[in-house]
Amino acid sequence: MPSPADSLTERFACRREVPLARWTPLKIGGPAELFFEPAKPEQLLELLELLHAQGLPFRILGGGANLLAPDGGVRGAVIHTGQMRRLFRDGDACLRAWPGVTLPQLVRTAGGLGLSGVEDLIGVPGHLGGALAMNAGGGDWGIWDQVREVTLWRAGEGAADFRPEQVGPRYRDGNLRGAVVLEALLAFEPGLPAAVKARAEEILRRKNLSQPVTLSSAGCAFKNPPGDSAGRLIDAAGLKGAREGGVLVSERHANFLVNLGGARAADVVALLERIEATVRQRFGVELERELVVWPEPGAAGPDAGA
Ligand code: EPU
Repeated sequence: MPSPADSLTERFACRREVPLARWTPLKIGGPAELFFEPAKPEQLLELLELLHAQGLPFRILGGGANLLAPDGGVRGAVIHTGQMRRLFRDGDACLRAWPGVTLPQLVRTAGGLGLSGVEDLIGVPGHLGGALAMNAGGGDWGIWDQVREVTLWRAGEGAADFRPEQVGPRYRDGNLRGAVVLEALLAFEPGLPAAVKARAEEILRRKNLSQPVTLSSAGCAFKNPPGDSAGRLIDAAGLKGAREGGVLVSERHANFLVNLGGARAADVVALLERIEATVRQRFGVELERELVVWPEPGAAGPDAGA
């Protein structure tokens, strides 16, 4: 008799045992048991309802930009948003976007239309859904500052539209509490395409100078503590160049952990813990992780098996 997973596999063209290292900029992670790539939000919604009804655990993988996937892989389903890339104008200064719209695509399209607002995301390899989940941004600005409305799915509640004040995003935290992004309406400041593009280019120039943009990393590993910078603290603690297995604290920006090749998730976790302990000891500051760490299969903990 076919299992519930078998019927889902057929219906949604799911692949099995897909290595997550291929889908994360950090290039780390074992296989996802079931790997789904829905083509549009309606299909994502149907899939979420079926997985929920059948009690199958699932995780959402966007661009994997700020993610550490476990060496032992993921039991259950991983839903990759990469096929849902539609982005279209909705009124004079708004763009409606599916969750798999890539951030480079968003920055480029908005710039071409003379719509200013998301230039700070230039050079970030994520997807819109993931960016909303973590309120990705630069400095005090985050992508939620541009959101007019978002369609979210929540287990047991289905899909509904929300305004930002109903969701309550914070610094580097979209506050989705397990909800999944199906679509978003983003609002921009209209301007001249040349001016918007020039601003993005200037931000990229600064990132190229201050961040290890050509190496495999997951962006900033820690959130900035109030009034300070995690990169400055890690640097001042003398940790630039610190290494665990195949992972290094970048010499260029201390908040970036770089995969030198062949790194394992366990190396990253060891380095994160060493940074946390050293910064706590030296400065009495408790760093909070921005990097999302999916637990190893069978691990206990609040995030396990979700
Ligand atoms: N600094 C050091 N040593 C370092 C790195 C930084 O002393 O190794 C100092 C810098 O000299 C500067 C301060 O720390 O005085 C802040 O550094 P930076 O301007 O590079 O900004 P950041 O706060 O470290 C934030 C975002 C980045 C984003 C940049 C530019 C966070 C946690 N990080 O970095 O976002 O790209 O601004 O907009 O908010 C990310 O979230 O993944 C990310 C990379």
